[in-house]
Amino acid sequence: MTDLMGYLSRSTGIVATILAVAALAWGFFFSARETGTRLRPNWWLDLHNWLGGLALIFTGVHILAAWLDSNSGVRFIDVFVPGTATAGWAIGWGVIAAYLFSVAVFTSWPKRWKNRRWWRVVHLGSVAGMVLALIHTYQSGSDTGALWFQIGFVFLASVATYGLGIRVFTKIAKAREAV
Ligand code: HEM
Ligand code: HEM
Repeated sequence: MTDLMGYLSRSTGIVATILAVAALAWGFFFSARETGTRLRPNWWLDLHNWLGGLALIFTGVHILAAWLDSNSGVRFIDVFVPGTATAGWAIGWGVIAAYLFSVAVFTSWPKRWKNRRWWRVVHLGSVAGMVLALIHTYQSGSDTGALWFQIGFVFLASVATYGLGIRVFTKIAKAREAV
């Protein structure tokens, strides 16, 4: 049973990370209006929302499995209070990331917050969440020594950075055009 929970925690952690990075990149591409002309912008936004919601669901299963896995050293309190687990901040960064993802999702669904400015500030907390989730992954994963894990990690970090780059550079270009 413990073995099963250990495998479940690792696999759902990996799937949650892939989904969150995809949601992040899709969000940036949508906001930068860089989604091409073949498919409507709303199609991309819908996909972004689904990816974000699914990332949170997989994060929830990952946390539950980590708690049920008696080898992980994660107690009930460690799931909610960052830094209290035996592994300290290696797990703590994951706890904060999970809060930031939850806030991004629940201020957007079932209804988006009315104040657009504040909604965006809160929503962009998920970018910090992504960074923390990647730190948590690297510090606490049992698979971090494996080559496939390291290649996957660099690939996901690059996709996230590429999305951020597109968003920032299109914003700068638009600001220049407006001058
Ligand atoms: C882990 C979950 C999520 C992450 C990491 C995430 C991340 C992002 C990012 C980085 C942007 C670009 C914002 C910008 O550059 O200004 C964005 C945009 C957006 N997100 Fe999310 N998001 C998540 C979940 C969701 C969910 C569940 C919804 C709705 C149900 C949602 C709705 C939106 C909307 C409407 C935009 C477009 C904002 C605009 O340009 O007007 N997001 N998201
Ligand atoms: C309360 C929050 C969290 C807790 C208690 C937690 C717990 C854990 C534990 C105990 C491990 C070590 C499992 C192992 O490799 O044996 C782990 C690894 C991992 N976690 Fe989390 N986690 C949390 C949040 C997150 C979040 C938000 C993400 C990403 C969206 C994430 C993704 C991962 C990944 C990818 C691994 C590495 C799996 C591997 O080694 O293959 N975790 N987590």
